[in-house]
Amino acid sequence: MKISSIKDIFENKILIDSIVKVKGWIKNKRNSKSNLLFIDIYDGSCVNTLQIIVNKKLLKNNINHEILKVTSGCSLSVKGKLVSSLNVNQKFEVYMHKINVIGWINKPNSYPMSSKKHSMEHLRNFAHLRPRTNIIGCISRIRSAIFYSIHNFLYINNYHWVSSPIITSLNTEGAGDMFSVKYAKNLENNKITYKDFFGKEVFLTVSGQLSIEAYACALSKVYTFGPIFRAENSNTTRHLSEFWMLEVELAFADLDNIIEVVEKMLKYIINFILKNNKNDLLFFEKNLNDNIVNKLKIFLESNICQINYQDAIEILKDNKIINRNYMFLDVELNLDHEKFLVDKYFKKPIIIKNYPKDFKPFYMRINKDKKTVSAFDILFPNVGEIIGGSQREERILYLDKRIKELNLNFNDYSWYRDLRFYGTVPHSGFGLGLERLIMYITGIKNIKDVIPFPRTPKNANF
Ligand code: 4AD
Ligand code: MG
Repeated sequence: MKISSIKDIFENKILIDSIVKVKGWIKNKRNSKSNLLFIDIYDGSCVNTLQIIVNKKLLKNNINHEILKVTSGCSLSVKGKLVSSLNVNQKFEVYMHKINVIGWINKPNSYPMSSKKHSMEHLRNFAHLRPRTNIIGCISRIRSAIFYSIHNFLYINNYHWVSSPIITSLNTEGAGDMFSVKYAKNLENNKITYKDFFGKEVFLTVSGQLSIEAYACALSKVYTFGPIFRAENSNTTRHLSEFWMLEVELAFADLDNIIEVVEKMLKYIINFILKNNKNDLLFFEKNLNDNIVNKLKIFLESNICQINYQDAIEILKDNKIINRNYMFLDVELNLDHEKFLVDKYFKKPIIIKNYPKDFKPFYMRINKDKKTVSAFDILFPNVGEIIGGSQREERILYLDKRIKELNLNFNDYSWYRDLRFYGTVPHSGFGLGLERLIMYITGIKNIKDVIPFPRTPKNANF
């Protein structure tokens, strides 16, 4: 017999009064004064649980007495009649005909995920069991739906997915924070040996951008979406050592063109989640006391406000956050500045553009003033920077000047420079931190809770 998902049942896809088979895990169990036992089960297809009504009298005839001993977390297979519930809090329930315990909970008293509420910090110690909680379940479904909606948006807009390498010798972003993967560990003659495998220093990638620029200069519209590794020693609520980044690259495009793509894509994603994960969002709204649905709807209705870096600095001067005497080119926005601008001053997502060149990587296109670059960051309330992008320097003379200024090695970038020698085109792109977007959409405060098995300094358990 086909197994029905709880999601299909709650979406009215299964006929009332039909016999259904459901498999899942117990969330709660209650005995009634009468001969009934109520068991709520979940199967991960949605946030809802399905109430199973067990008639204890039926069990007697059924040698199925063991069912009386089940505890939360046990896995079950249930066959029964689907009926509409009289209880206002739930639409459906199943009158059990047959029930089997698939897996018991060993020592129920020490089961770490018993039904009582746990703090997010506590749950991090049980990264392998925490997907069983409602909150991590909701985050996981939304995370999966965001991936799907991003691929969908890009596919229908004729972008091609390019798989950029994970092992690379280049540091796109210029900072030194990379994980080395220089050595191969082998077992030879019963002895472990370490050998320089590639014959040069290589690392886990910090960005796939340079690789997809090569593909954008042939396929016009491309993206890469994969894990990114950064060895920054930042133990904050918004940094991971391993996270997922979407990077999009568009040929024949300037900064305004790429900002337009980002905005369209963000609206597509948020619209998709509002439509397809409404119950997950409502769960956060109820449990985190955050008006999430409304926040997302407001986002859909307006365009993101754009300001120049210089104007952002002026606002900070006017509000006495930074000293009036500083030149904007000399002040690098820090986290506190960003927080003031987005959480206190604008109180909504903002785009800051045209950053001083000294604070940005070598590949960004120099503006006419020769001091700023055609770059943008999108900052969101309570999360900060979720997206960073720029127009790329397509003119070989300017690119070489930047490579020299930053003391980078010309040989390392010879293939990247070739793209400017052979049929160069203006092109632009951006990178979006997936986990930070999930934090904005769900209202979850710590990035460690929106990725399955977080990696951070001194923490690579599980
Ligand atoms: O601003 P970043 O460093 O930009 C790049 O890597 C460019 N190559 C992107 C491009 O133009 N193709 O990183 C992009 C985004 C950030 O805005 C942030 O959301 C996220 O990646 N991010 C992190 N997320 C979690 N943990 C970290 N340590 C992160 N570092 C960056
Ligand atoms: Mg950035």
